[in-house]
Amino acid sequence: MIPPAHAAARDFGPVHPALAGASVLSLMEHSPEAVTAVLESASVLAHTPRRAWPQLLSGRMIALIFERPSTRTRVSFEVGISHLGGHALVLAGRDMQMGRGETIEDTALVLSRMVDAIVLRTGAHETLEELDAHATVPVINSLSYAHHPCQALADALTLRQRFGALSGLRVAYVGDGNNCCASLMVVGALTGMQVVAACPAGYEPDPEVVAWCQRMGQGTGGGARVTDDAYAAVTDAHGIYTDTWISMGDEDQADRRRRDLDPYRVDAELVAAAAPDAVVLHCLPAHHGEEITYEVLHGPRSAVWDQAENRIYAQASLLGHILA
Ligand code: CP
Ligand code: NVA
Repeated sequence: MIPPAHAAARDFGPVHPALAGASVLSLMEHSPEAVTAVLESASVLAHTPRRAWPQLLSGRMIALIFERPSTRTRVSFEVGISHLGGHALVLAGRDMQMGRGETIEDTALVLSRMVDAIVLRTGAHETLEELDAHATVPVINSLSYAHHPCQALADALTLRQRFGALSGLRVAYVGDGNNCCASLMVVGALTGMQVVAACPAGYEPDPEVVAWCQRMGQGTGGGARVTDDAYAAVTDAHGIYTDTWISMGDEDQADRRRRDLDPYRVDAELVAAAAPDAVVLHCLPAHHGEEITYEVLHGPRSAVWDQAENRIYAQASLLGHILA
């Protein structure tokens, strides 16, 4: 009989020591080696029947707090945690005392006595930073207005599945330079991908994130660049990525955003300007006819359904490294 620890190693790969007990707020706090280890294990899990996954989270309780709506993030975390033998507690922020004024600090201290990790979807990124500052268990960002690192891990896993390796890939992000754009740039810089964001003036990604990616890219071969020319960005790209023009929190600017971002739609004409093997990515939910046309989203170049499924493997892997 294979001892359980060895069986786990066979079905998961080596746990990266720097991730043990660590929080993940943006991935900018982690190394290329740690992120590569997460992607390696995610790939192993993706190839292992879920019922046969190592029980790395046995006896572990993970709080999933949602202050914003979610379909993929909630379901993929719950499914992944269950298949690794752990238990997820799904909590709606509005039903918690936090929703009626209990402080983040007090919430962090109480939850740290009760669960092994806290996954939070919120608006202000500072809320995650505050939770992490006071929690004594790992905190994972499952979307803030600034970053969506769990999504980026699934994005990278999808490109790795399609192209075999990430180093040297070029990805064009077209549209609003939002949380998904920032996190794609970060994961690209950590894994050797060049990410070019094509955004209209006023919708560029955070310049501090872009500068961080450029510095990180000097060591990994990756990098980040911003342009306003979507056609130039997709030329020679292996991936074309887009996301909603109206993120959660942007609803009051919907009309202006639809008008300003209209030239940045991912349609068949734009996809035709990319390499013939380029794949189309979208974190979902999509808005047909706005940032992407139905025919592209559901067409032969679309990798978005794999990308959505990969949320399970990327997050299960991440939790395995953090809590195993
Ligand atoms: N992509 C993503 O995070 O989807 P949900 O908002 O449905 O979780
Ligand atoms: N940029 C989007 C992503 C949704 C998964 C938002 O923040 O609403």
